[in-house]
Amino acid sequence: MTNRAPDVLVSRRQALTGALAVAGGALGPAAARAETPKPSLNALAQAKGMRFGSAIAAGASDARRMGGSIDNPPYADVVASECGLIVPENEMKMQALRPGPDTFDFHRADRLMAFAAQKGLAVRGHNLLWVPTKWLPAWLNQYDFGSRPASTAETLLVTHVKTVCGHFGERLGSWDVINEAIDPATGKIRETVLTRHLGDRVIDIAFHAAREALPKCQLVYNDYMEWERGNETHRAGVLKLLERLRHDGVPVDALGLQSHIGGDSELVGQAGAPDPKAWRRFLEQATGLGLDLLVTEFDINDRSLPADPAVRDARAAAYVREYLDLTLSFPQVQDVLAWGMVDRFSWLNDRTPRADGLPKRPCPYDADYRPKPLRDAIAAALAGAPPRTAPHPPHA
Ligand code: XIL
Repeated sequence: MTNRAPDVLVSRRQALTGALAVAGGALGPAAARAETPKPSLNALAQAKGMRFGSAIAAGASDARRMGGSIDNPPYADVVASECGLIVPENEMKMQALRPGPDTFDFHRADRLMAFAAQKGLAVRGHNLLWVPTKWLPAWLNQYDFGSRPASTAETLLVTHVKTVCGHFGERLGSWDVINEAIDPATGKIRETVLTRHLGDRVIDIAFHAAREALPKCQLVYNDYMEWERGNETHRAGVLKLLERLRHDGVPVDALGLQSHIGGDSELVGQAGAPDPKAWRRFLEQATGLGLDLLVTEFDINDRSLPADPAVRDARAAAYVREYLDLTLSFPQVQDVLAWGMVDRFSWLNDRTPRADGLPKRPCPYDADYRPKPLRDAIAAALAGAPPRTAPHPPHA
């Protein structure tokens, strides 16, 4: 819901028209978008004791990221109308917060926090350590760890976690502490400049530091071991890690299910058809460890679906419905977040293009900010989910 008066909205949109010209028109129509359907996705979620949210960015140098951001009023309106919480698409990652080994830059993340406060939205943190080498800051990959490399690496990691947790404090009720530690091909912890010196303890150190900094915050392990066939090794590796963490008293509260479904060879290895039986079993095993669950980055890669938008959207919606019905049947899922709300700005359009070159349609809203069958599927899954009987965890 927006609190802005219509005349303010118009003048903001007129202002945006200028911004769009600068951005090369890539943000789509600045004209008034259709009203968002009621009840909102978050209202439907709330009726079951859940929350619905989305990723959103805070400006950027390129037009696509600019589009999915607080600086694009129609996009911000969709998010504020449909969501109860947001997650920064990139702004809290180490690459964004750490221009150098001795510096922190919270500027863009703080803009997102201000937007959330203004709109009355909760925020979750993403992420304290995105493990793969590719996603670490270049300076860290080249860092000189000196003559006592293990202790230097530990200090560096603890300083990062504590400074970032301390900066946002209890305004964030949930953090992805570790993102994507498991190599999908081997099921083992990925090797990086940090594991070279600390081994698997990297994970323990990050969780312990986060707990010390924020005793009440929900601490999450987040990864993309999706429900399609081809993810067996990845799922087994994640479970093995979680078992070990629980056994060793490492403070992990929940498993984040990224839920980039639909298959993408670059993302999930040899993705294939869904395997609902294996997915249910996986969620049973994870919750059997006493962990809560979250859907953290939901979208669908429609790369291999037919070109016709109506056919494509119907097939995607059915696929999504089946996935969410099964996943939300676990009452441990209390937060469902989409990785963006509008097709045009989805990160999936930067990756593994469709063979026919058409833009992907991974999100609940189309390129012109109109709700799609995918939005109906999410709404139906939320409305059909069993009510959560346990109260929302205190950390949220
Ligand atoms: C993606 C962002 O959407 C892109 O803008 C960025 O270039 C790369 O990261 N898993 C995650 C997210 O945990 O942080 C990723 O976000 C998508 C995959």
